[in-house]
Order: sequence, then C-alpha cells, then structure tokens
Amino acid sequence: MKTVIAHRGASGYLPEHTLAAHAMAHAMGADYLEPDLVMTRDGVLIVLHDIDLGATTDVAEHFPDRRDKKGRWCPADFDLAEIRRLQARERLDGRFRRDSRGFQIPTFEELLQLLTELNRLTGRNTGIYPETKHPAFHRERGLAMEEPLLAMLAEYGYVRRSDPVCIQSFDPHNLRHIRENLDSDLTLIQLLSEAPATSRLDEIAGFADGIGPDKRLIEDAQRRPVNNNALVRDAHARGLVVHPYTFRADQLTAGDNCLEDELRRFYLDYGVDGLFCDHPDIASRIAHDPLATRE
Ligand code: G3P
Ligand code: CA
Repeated sequence: MKTVIAHRGASGYLPEHTLAAHAMAHAMGADYLEPDLVMTRDGVLIVLHDIDLGATTDVAEHFPDRRDKKGRWCPADFDLAEIRRLQARERLDGRFRRDSRGFQIPTFEELLQLLTELNRLTGRNTGIYPETKHPAFHRERGLAMEEPLLAMLAEYGYVRRSDPVCIQSFDPHNLRHIRENLDSDLTLIQLLSEAPATSRLDEIAGFADGIGPDKRLIEDAQRRPVNNNALVRDAHARGLVVHPYTFRADQLTAGDNCLEDELRRFYLDYGVDGLFCDHPDIASRIAHDPLATRE
C-alpha cells in the first residue's frame, strides 16, 4: 500500500505543527504524522520547523530583545515556559488567517500523547515520522537530540522495527549515530535535497531504510522524469523506500490542474512508496483507493 505522510500535520488547512493540524491529519486518514523537532534551552523537544521562532509565532511581540546574533529568536535560547507564552501562527499566504489566537507550539510528548489517544479511540494505527532539525547545531549547544528522541519514543511504545515510526534527517551523522551508536532498530529515512551519487546511495543503504528526496530529484519543473526515474529505481534496487517531499494543493507544478494529477504521477508512474503532503485528505484518497492507484 502507498503511504501518506501528513507534512507538518494537515498544514494546508490549519497552522503547521499545531495539535489541531495533527489531529485533523489523523482524522483525514494519514498513515503518519510528520513533526519537525527542535529543542528548547531546558532540553525539551518541541514540534517546530525552524531554529527561529519568528517565522510561525508572535515571539516578536513578547520578546523583542531576545534575537541572537543572526537576528533569530532561536528556540534553544528559550525555556519551555517562555515558549508557552507564544501563539503559533500560519506561515504561508492564502492559508489560515495570520492573526489567529488559540494555537500553541506543542511538545513532542504532547503530540505523541494525542496520537496515542486518537489511535486508541478510533482503532487506527497512524504512525509518527519525526524529523530532527539541525542536530549538529543542537549538539554544539549541549542539546544532543538523539537520546531524548529515542527515550520519548520508547516511552510511547515505539521500540521495535515493526512499530509505526520513521526517523528522518538531512544529517547522515544523526541517523548513523542512532543506528550504530545507540543501537536503534527503528526505521530511518535519509532526506536528500540534492541528487546522490550511486556510491552515496550504497552508503545510505548501509544505515537507513529509505530516502526522502526533494520531489524535483524525481520530476523536474516541466513534469519530466529526471534521468528516466533513476533515483527511484536505484533506491529500490538497494532496498530503500522512497518518500519524496513536498506536495501542496496550493503550490502545483505548472501544467497541473489539481494535486490529484501530481500525486497519481508520483505514486503510479514513478512508483514512490509514500510522500509528504500538506493536504492528507487528498493524498489519502489517491493512495488508499485501490482503483485510484491501480495496485
Ligand atoms: O521532512 C520532509 C520535508 O518536510 C523536508 O522539508 O523543510 O518541510 O522539513 P521540510
Ligand atoms: Ca520535515
């Protein structure tokens, strides 16, 4: 079956990474909820995409003088109690109103608790697909992410390879550390923003279970398969699953009339195993309908 990964929750409909967005993704039938993770100064994993609170919160109103030397409100400079004072806000134009109130940045634990309860109450087994954001940056600040991540996952029962969890990162050292030093058997996905050489794919196959490439490494902006779909073929030949990012109904590839067309091409023509989508209702319709996916 094809996999739907709710990118930052149902972020096409509600401010990204809020518990509301993740609950909506669960209700829409996503196979996995995707939280990006960063750490607070007091060592708590929170669900946030950037190492700058400025992009998706009202931090500037509360802490105008707390920017770092690079002009960022870095979560690693704030304790959780301070982050609790912030309102989470929509990132993109044309989506949920930007001046909303009532949304907060959740901790990773709060998201896992929400997921556990929604699974229990609905009988579903939706998984979790956490991404460690900037693990080297955090480690330099004494905030190594790997051990707290595995500990938190274990607390919620994610310990075996068969458990519905995929840990993803752009940083190969982070994934290798999890596999080789911390001896974790959980599914690992190497994110890729650039095309890998075949030797690099061999290397990735040595410690990870799949790749999460930018979709432009599979199909170019003119809707042509890159290198005759070599990346998917080469990854599959090495036993790696392929989960490209990011699919959005409001950022269609030129020439596409609707997201469904793009999703069908990736699932069916290119043969990807899953994908990251801001609109998990649409992706679920395509991925989970046997007629739509012709599997
Ligand atoms: O994690 C897959 C995809 O989400 C990577 O890009 O920037 O949305 O985290 P980003
Ligand atoms: Ca991500």
